[in-house]
Amino acid sequence: MNQTLDAIGRRYACRSFQESPVPRDTLKEIARAGLAAPSAMGREPWRFIVVERTDVMTAVGDAAAKGFGKASAAEILYGAPAMILVAGQEPEGPFTGVDVGIATGLLTVAATALGVQSCVVASPQAAFQQDPSLAARVGVPAGFKVWLAVLLGYEASCTPKAPHPLDPTKIICA
Ligand SMILES: Cc1cc2nc3c(=O)[nH]c(=O)nc-3n(C[C@H](O)[C@H](O)[C@H](O)COP(=O)(O)O)c2cc1C
Repeated sequence: MNQTLDAIGRRYACRSFQESPVPRDTLKEIARAGLAAPSAMGREPWRFIVVERTDVMTAVGDAAAKGFGKASAAEILYGAPAMILVAGQEPEGPFTGVDVGIATGLLTVAATALGVQSCVVASPQAAFQQDPSLAARVGVPAGFKVWLAVLLGYEASCTPKAPHPLDPTKIICA
């Protein structure tokens, strides 16, 4: 099978990560996949912030947990040892969300291709909205808003979730 299609088909939202770190070069390679994404008018309105530090992961997870009424960062970040925050340039244009979403999809496929599991989470967005000092602490540049985080790591469960079934009725050949 084509290797790219194979990686697309094997991706799933991992919600149980081992503590083992993902090598920094691998994280950077995953982030580079985002740079290759198409964007409206080629504006590339994104920044990809690679987060590995445990204290920073916890700070983001704790703030998001508070916003979502969860008990702890673990319920938001599922124990992931790293994440890539996907931030979009402000002021937001009509396609900023689409652009960062497409780039995020590429990150997840790149991760799968490199043997790293991922989960896209929107919950950290609220953390940055609630605590404006968090952005500087985490390294989000001024003028950028965090839209999504891609949690990254290695699956902890012995019985990982299967990729979701593909529904062919959602393809319409007109
Ligand atoms: C924009 C977006 C936001 C998401 N936010 C969360 C989240 O906050 N927490 C979470 O556990 N999963 C989140 N997910 C993961 C979805 O729940 C998951 O992709 C969906 O259930 C389909 O499962 P699959 O990824 O295994 O195919 C998000 C996914 C997307 C695309």
